[in-house]
Amino acid sequence: MKKITKAVFPVAGMGSRFLPATKVSPKEMMPIVDKPLIQYAVEEAVAAGITDMVFITGRNKRSIEDHFDKAYELEAELEMRGKDELLRLVREVTPSNINCIYIRQVEPLGLGHAVLCAKPVVQDEPFAVLLADDLIDDGTPIIKQMTDVFQQNQCSILGVQNVPRENTRQYGIVSSVTLTDNLEQVNGIVEKPNPEDAPTTLAVVGRYILTPRIFHYLEKVQVGAGGEIQLTDGIAALMHEEKMLAYRFTGTRYDCGSKLGYLEAMVAFGLKHPEVREEFSAFLRDLKLPVKSK
Ligand code: UTP
Repeated sequence: MKKITKAVFPVAGMGSRFLPATKVSPKEMMPIVDKPLIQYAVEEAVAAGITDMVFITGRNKRSIEDHFDKAYELEAELEMRGKDELLRLVREVTPSNINCIYIRQVEPLGLGHAVLCAKPVVQDEPFAVLLADDLIDDGTPIIKQMTDVFQQNQCSILGVQNVPRENTRQYGIVSSVTLTDNLEQVNGIVEKPNPEDAPTTLAVVGRYILTPRIFHYLEKVQVGAGGEIQLTDGIAALMHEEKMLAYRFTGTRYDCGSKLGYLEAMVAFGLKHPEVREEFSAFLRDLKLPVKSK
C-alpha cells in the first residue's frame, strides 16, 4: 500500500490575468486577507500528512522561497518587541517536519511541463498536485479527502466540480461513469471544450493525485491547446493504461487566478476572519452599491 508524502505546487505560470500586480511578484503570493494563496495550499497538504513540498518555480518567484524560509531579522525584531503572537504566526508558516524543495521551470511551457519538472524528486511514488490559485474552502481540506480516497483505491484521482456549461472553455472536462455519491470512474477528458462540444460539465479543478506513470506520458505529450504542454493530455493517455477516478467535492472553490474569483474569496474569508469579521460585515451591509446608469 502506497502513501502520499509528496505534493507538487506548480507556481511558475505568468499570472497574466493579474498584470500589472504580477509583473514582478508571483500571483501565488497574493494574500486572501492576511495569508498568501500558496500558504493556504501548503497548509492543506500538511493537513493531509504530506511532508515533502515540491515547488516548481520560475522567474520572479523568489519571494515564495523566502516566505517558507526562516526570517531571522523579522523574528529577532518581533521577539525584542515582545510581539509573541505575531512571532508565533511567522514561525508557524513552515512546520518543522516539512521539507521544501524548489525546482526551476526554465520556461513556462505549460502545466504538464511544470509537473514533469518534479520527476527527479517524486521518482516512482504517487503524489499530489495542488494549484494554489484554486482556493477550496471545505470542512476537511480537500487534498486530505482525496488522499483518503487514494488509500482505498491506489490509483490516480482528479478533483472535479460541476460548472455552468457556458464556462467549459476554461477547464479540462471529464466524461465518466458514476460509482458512488462522490466518485466517478473517468473514461475521457478534453481540454477547454466549447460548451456545445463538452461531454459533461464536470470540470477538473486544481487538485490531483497522480501515479508516477504520468511522467512517462508527459514526456511524450506534444504541445497542445494554447501552445502549452497540457497536463490534461498526459492524463488522457494515462487513463487508457490505469484506472482513474474523479472525486466530486462539495466545498466552495474560488478561482483566485481570476479577478472575480479573487474578490469573492477575499470577501468570503474576510467575513470569517476573527479579527475583522464583525466590522467587515457591517461595512458590507452599509455599502451603497453604485446605481446603474440607464
Ligand atoms: P494558469 O492556467 O492559471 O496560468 O496555470 P498562469 O500563467 O498562472 O496565469 P494566467 O492564465 O497567465 O493568468 C495554472 C497553474 O499552473 C502553473 C501556474 O503557476 C498555475 O498555478 N503553471 C502554468 C506553471 O507552473 N508553469 C506553466 O508553464 C504554466
